[in-house]
Amino acid sequence: MSANNNPPTPSNFTVKKLCDKTDLSSFDCSYDDELRLNDFLHKEAFEYQQEDMGVTYLFYNNDDEIVGYVTVAMGFIRKKRTPLSVEGDDKIHFPALWLGRLAVHSSQRKSGVGAYLVKWCIGFAKKASVDVGCRFIVLVTKEGYRTKFYTKHGFQKCIVELDGNKKLLFFDLKNAKS
Ligand SMILES: CC(C)(COP(=O)(O)OP(=O)(O)OC[C@H]1O[C@@H](n2cnc3c(N)ncnc32)[C@H](O)[C@@H]1OP(=O)(O)O)[C@@H](O)C(=O)NCCC(=O)NCCS
Repeated sequence: MSANNNPPTPSNFTVKKLCDKTDLSSFDCSYDDELRLNDFLHKEAFEYQQEDMGVTYLFYNNDDEIVGYVTVAMGFIRKKRTPLSVEGDDKIHFPALWLGRLAVHSSQRKSGVGAYLVKWCIGFAKKASVDVGCRFIVLVTKEGYRTKFYTKHGFQKCIVELDGNKKLLFFDLKNAKS
């Protein structure tokens, strides 16, 4: 699999939900995979989905190869970790889409696939928010280039210490272009 230099567009990818017939054998995101996202997809994602803990979406290129995946679930963010204050609202938590996993095939890195996956998640959460309250996207990732990657796409860091050099990030869907 070779990386393409042009940024991917919606026509470059087909998105499919993980199912029992999905062939994952050619997918490998094990390079620089401190968060064990390769193992998760190959060993845990299907069972996780059957338990309704997270749904995995796979992104196929025009050659029908999987170039990346995301796993999403319902989630929340504590109000005090966002800059948002809603007049007359005594909520402690705000509804959010939990972006549990996001990874790109090792051979496809730095060619815009990751950016495409993030934008797809923002569009997905915006669509979901029409039918169920959903104001934010929330995720946990490692401090370093990963947090820069997300902040470049409009995510903000929460002031909260997590174990293992990890950061909680959120995206306000009201900031997303329709
Ligand atoms: C993080 C990840 C999803 C980025 O995917 P990608 O397809 O390489 O992302 P893009 O091509 O859209 O570009 C990402 C940006 O991050 C930078 N970047 C990507 N990998 C990098 C690395 N190893 N070191 C430094 N910067 C890096 C790129 O230079 C680019 O910045 P630019 O747009 O300013 O040039 C990918 O590296 C990955 O799958 N990593 C392993 C799994 C993981 O850690 N996922 C995130 C956990 S939530």
